[in-house]
Amino acid sequence: MKGTAMKMEHLQYLACPSCRSDLTVNKGHPGPDGRLETGELRCVRCLATYPVEKYIPRFVPRENYASSFGLEWNTHARTQYDSYTGVNVSEHRFFDETKWPRDLKGQTLLEVGSGAGRFTEQAASTGAMVVSLDYSYAVEANYQSNGKKDNVLIVQGTVYSLPVRTDFFDKVLCIGVLQHTPDVKRSFLSLAPHLKPGGSLVIDVYRFNPWMWCFLPRRWVRLITKRMDPHRLYRWCDKYVRATWGLSGWVNQHVPLGRLVNCWALIADYRGVFNLPDHLHLQWAILDTFDSLSPRYDTPQSQRTVRRWFAEAGLQKVYVARGYNGIVGRGEKPPA
Ligand SMILES: C[S@@+](CC[C@H](N)C(=O)[O-])C[C@H]1O[C@@H](n2cnc3c(N)ncnc32)[C@H](O)[C@@H]1O
Repeated sequence: MKGTAMKMEHLQYLACPSCRSDLTVNKGHPGPDGRLETGELRCVRCLATYPVEKYIPRFVPRENYASSFGLEWNTHARTQYDSYTGVNVSEHRFFDETKWPRDLKGQTLLEVGSGAGRFTEQAASTGAMVVSLDYSYAVEANYQSNGKKDNVLIVQGTVYSLPVRTDFFDKVLCIGVLQHTPDVKRSFLSLAPHLKPGGSLVIDVYRFNPWMWCFLPRRWVRLITKRMDPHRLYRWCDKYVRATWGLSGWVNQHVPLGRLVNCWALIADYRGVFNLPDHLHLQWAILDTFDSLSPRYDTPQSQRTVRRWFAEAGLQKVYVARGYNGIVGRGEKPPA
């Protein structure tokens, strides 16, 4: 059975997050499509067990500090997908940030913090074997979009204890994620050990700008909203963005620096930036307003700090500069 073989094959990418040994399927049988819907993985050495639920191996509890992202990405499972919007925003960002070739057949790629999986879609399009991980139950949304592809394995786990093999992956990608983890430096340093010698790491992270940081209302509003029940906050963002949508459109068009004004009013308005129909702009705005107010952690970094981390991780051919999400960083593990 091809599907069963695939599932067993997937074990070669995983490792026990506690002792780094191999895992085996302990309980559960593959369904008619050959995939394991529910079951259990077990470490061959320390005998720790990890459930498989809804086809996804779970190495952390389903609910955790990142649950607002679980809600966000299950509500907006397709909003930012190129294959849904018809524009190539994610494709452009993925290949421009990584500088990886379009054909990565025969290579392995680890994506950390995949959210709904708009970049998993891009990674899978290269033909690489993609292991895509997220801490939140956003993995369930990603599974619906990408999980049935033969070259994608989706797992729920944390960057702090990645349940995958070390010195193994040709490519490691972590974009849109690091600022949302409690210890950004530790998160960054957890990535490189999983690269094989000569492998390439790409990250991005919000850029620290003291002026913007002090005077952006978002920063102050977040003191309250990051503690709110995510469902309640989402309902608030939805109502607020819909109620002000006409006004923010007018501001965007007629007021100098209108987009900045909207940003101060907590509205992520991309009209005039992306070529989308209005209803998609509205969805995108609700998503991004919630995204900016809900995360428990939001800690931007300076370029100098990021450069220092790349050096500390022992990476070479390092490039750190202003980019899509603030700062983009690339580096390679030295060849063996
Ligand atoms: C803003 S979203 C970005 C998702 C995706 N990379 C994108 O750009 O569309 C940040 C993601 O980081 C994940 N995340 C937060 N802490 C994490 C951790 N400790 N380990 C792995 N992922 C984490 C969240 O669950 C969330 O899905």
